[in-house]
Amino acid sequence: MSLKKQTEHAIFSQNRGDCINAVAQIMEMRATGAAPLAYVTTYGCQQNVADSEKIKGQLEEMGFSFTQDPDLADLILYNTCAIRENAESKVFGKIGELKHKKSKKPSLITAMCGCMAEQDHVVERVKKSYPYLDLVFGTHIIHYLPQLLFTFLTNGKRIFENGSEDEDKQIIEDLPIKRDSGQVGAWLTIMYGCNHFCSYCIVPYVRGRERSREPEAIEQEFRQLVEAGYKEITLLGQNVNAYGKTLKNPITFSDLLRRLDRVEGDYRIRFMSPHPKDATPELFETMAQSEHIAHSLHLPLQAGNNRVLKAMRRNYTREQFLELVEQARAHMPDITFTTDLIVGFPGETYEEFLETVDMLQKVKFNSLFTFIYSPRAGTKAAVMEDHVPAQEKSRWFQELWKEQEAIVAQTSPAMVGTVQRVLVQGYNDKKTMLMGKTEGNMNCEFIGDDSLIGTFVHVKITESPNFALKGTVLNEPINDITGGY
Ligand code: SAH
Ligand code: SF4
Ligand code: F3S
Repeated sequence: MSLKKQTEHAIFSQNRGDCINAVAQIMEMRATGAAPLAYVTTYGCQQNVADSEKIKGQLEEMGFSFTQDPDLADLILYNTCAIRENAESKVFGKIGELKHKKSKKPSLITAMCGCMAEQDHVVERVKKSYPYLDLVFGTHIIHYLPQLLFTFLTNGKRIFENGSEDEDKQIIEDLPIKRDSGQVGAWLTIMYGCNHFCSYCIVPYVRGRERSREPEAIEQEFRQLVEAGYKEITLLGQNVNAYGKTLKNPITFSDLLRRLDRVEGDYRIRFMSPHPKDATPELFETMAQSEHIAHSLHLPLQAGNNRVLKAMRRNYTREQFLELVEQARAHMPDITFTTDLIVGFPGETYEEFLETVDMLQKVKFNSLFTFIYSPRAGTKAAVMEDHVPAQEKSRWFQELWKEQEAIVAQTSPAMVGTVQRVLVQGYNDKKTMLMGKTEGNMNCEFIGDDSLIGTFVHVKITESPNFALKGTVLNEPINDITGGY
């Protein structure tokens, strides 16, 4: 047995309950305040947010409370994202700050997990250059947090772990989940990993192969969320509509949606991100016929030119994407679209980029998530020749947004005068008005009372400045008018 295997075995074979109790006892003595405090920061996508909720749930089991102030914390943990270089740079900056914090408070425990921790070159850099980071663990072993913390607390040596090969094949159910209080919406992970290997993307390397949770487990969690009063449940997966393919008794994503939609209650279902390759007429029909699924789709296009799409290994053409949009609109005339776009993929020419711009006019997305291509070590695209200078890519990026703003200016006046069903989420940033999301996932602001938060209301749109609607609430909460929608 190699040394690594022996250590792994020693850490992972410890009894979970014993470790939880032991960590709670040790931390009670070590804590600088009345109870141990953890500061957890999450970078990246909703998958990471959902993982952090499980990490916090376990920390709570071990007696931790939570703080928003890192200077008060006994444990600082960063759950990281590796999708683009700037995501990683941000985290390295934060880890750098830990040196000072640790010298001020030597008992501070410092930890990093998530997608960056799954990359060997990152782990090597942390080992060498950040000696004050105590605990580094990957995405597949968050359920071993009690064992990892116990081991660190008892032998004091830095720990670097991302589990064995088998760990990234399993799904751990029943971890405690600590959702942030006061939330109207909840995340529900239905599948893990990705099998696509788009040529630019690090996700399959850091999240492992596609695997789906059993529908029974999903439905159970879903029912709990509805009963707990969550009004918007977002089903999560890197490629959410590939759901079910790896189950012992395979079912489709649409089968799962129909099953969940039958759960009674006043709530809305969303999901992200579906891959165009796996978007089917069955999915659109299911959405159209459902009671609870919002008529909005986040459908990542990435690029509008067929040669670039092929080099990205996306498995669809611009024509096929447009056909999907048409099919979805035929089933749901009110459907809205958002998308992800990458600017400056290696080898992309200006003419090819203009075909992405052209897709904006053709589809009329409500909003965009746009990224300048960032090479990721280990991916196919990272070794492709990239001749376009960064400045030029920034210009293309601006051009893309100029076009999008023009489209929104053209399309949004049509919203004025319509009545939208809005889920009230809280106050806007300035705390001057309530804000919520329409079925089409657009932000909408209006004057109203606290008591509306967490309910569905009808809002008549009066203004549509770019990217946010304004309106007035009609009468009572919608549930009172209609007795459920
Ligand atoms: N699973 C989702 C996307 C996950 S990553 C899907 O397939 O659509 C979120 C977005 O980050 C991607 O849609 C893509 O637009 C962007 N992205 C991923 N890798 C990138 C890279 N190397 N450079 C720039 N953007 C990237
Ligand atoms: Fe990345 Fe492509 Fe998988 Fe999305 S489908 S996570 S872009 S490899
Ligand atoms: Fe980032 Fe990992 Fe999500 S790389 S985008 S946090 S799956």
